[in-house]
Amino acid sequence: MRILAVGGGGREHAAVEALHRSGAEIYAVMKNANPGIIARSAKYRLCSETDVDKVVEFAKECGAELAFIGPEAPLGVGLVDALQAAGIKCASPTQAAARIETSKSFMRGLVEKHKIPGNLGYASFDNAEDCEAYLKTLKTQIVVKPVGLTGGKGVKVQGEHLNSFEETMDYVHEIFDANIGGAGVIIEEKAVGEEFTQMVFCDGKNVVPLPLVQDHKRAYEGDVGPNTGGMGSYSDANHLLPFITSEEREQAIDIIRKVISAMAEEGCPYVGTLYGQFMLTKDGPKIIEFNARFGDPEAMNVLSILKTPFADVCSMMANGCLKDVEFEHQATVCKYVVPKGYGVKSETGKDISVDEDAIRKAGAVVYYANVDEKDGRLVTMSSRSVGVVGIADSIEEAERRCEDALTHVKSNWIFVRHDIGKRELVEKRVAHMKQIRGQ
Ligand code: AMP
Ligand code: GLY
Repeated sequence: MRILAVGGGGREHAAVEALHRSGAEIYAVMKNANPGIIARSAKYRLCSETDVDKVVEFAKECGAELAFIGPEAPLGVGLVDALQAAGIKCASPTQAAARIETSKSFMRGLVEKHKIPGNLGYASFDNAEDCEAYLKTLKTQIVVKPVGLTGGKGVKVQGEHLNSFEETMDYVHEIFDANIGGAGVIIEEKAVGEEFTQMVFCDGKNVVPLPLVQDHKRAYEGDVGPNTGGMGSYSDANHLLPFITSEEREQAIDIIRKVISAMAEEGCPYVGTLYGQFMLTKDGPKIIEFNARFGDPEAMNVLSILKTPFADVCSMMANGCLKDVEFEHQATVCKYVVPKGYGVKSETGKDISVDEDAIRKAGAVVYYANVDEKDGRLVTMSSRSVGVVGIADSIEEAERRCEDALTHVKSNWIFVRHDIGKRELVEKRVAHMKQIRGQ
């Protein structure tokens, strides 16, 4: 099958690798020359992923039968709607369905209207004065978010990034003054607990859950520093996480099922991978956000252990006939190699080298992300450079394999959160959850 794959990051390389394994012929569109994607593509085009006309023209030229869109930005500008109008089926959501991610107030409003459990208190604002008046009435801690898309980097949490009323208001003013996200500010109740990612495949009505994953959003070891797109993630062989029970996971899946029904009722049925970010609190899972796509890095964890051919999964989603999807019972640990300064101001255009054979021999997989090829050299760009995934029977062994493999990625201009997936950090999460539960 001829499949159009849009996006040039680690998530998209993982998807392209999985599509290639399932025998698909790949036609890729990306803005950077991702060497992993290029190696698997019959043909590719370097252009803006949000240039709908160019992407559709390329898809038609290549005779694409099915499309997979990795990042949120093209979904937000209606790429799926345009591809469908050109007769190409899509395993990704329409612009209306992607609002579950592109508008945080749409998401909170939908969950509220349909009385879906797991919502948090929230209020949205289109000016700083009303927001300030509201904040003055609150007694508990909150989180400040731009309503629109910010690449996962726009969220600031009181008690972590914002330590006074003044700092909170400074950030609110910054969002309005710089028009960050382009759609105002949302204030949310701060949820306290452990975060986890539950993704599902969906064909508009049928839902198939993926293994649980835990991402690490903070830039530096010990969970400090600015929020990033995600520095790395792990998953366990039993598809749960060490701090969550299967009942709690079921509650999260139930929330997602209700969201999917609500979207169908609202006339925007959801087709594609849906990403649910939850905080496991003392009162169960609470919704942090939904994304209209795979998580990045989480895609690298789950797609590395996907047993069912991914091309078949995409085809079932696009054709409304989704059924069983199987994953290996293996643990995975993914660590992103990122440019120095990532999270604040990245060192771009710096040389980085990857020894793919040595990484494979270490029992790991490498996915290229936001890198480019310049005069035959691989160089860093502003976002995450290379994802390395260790795969084994246990998290501990997967972590060791990931670390072995990381020694084969070389540059003087990179850093890695080595603590991800290490026993100490995983045990800290388990202890934290015990404390939250009051055990
Ligand atoms: P988001 O981009 O919405 O995933 O937010 C980035 C990060 O900010 C999340 O992964 C959480 O760590 C944190 N965060 C977002 N919303 C909340 C919330 N309502 N309560 C506590 N933490 C939050
Ligand atoms: N890993 C978080 C995200 O993809 O938004």
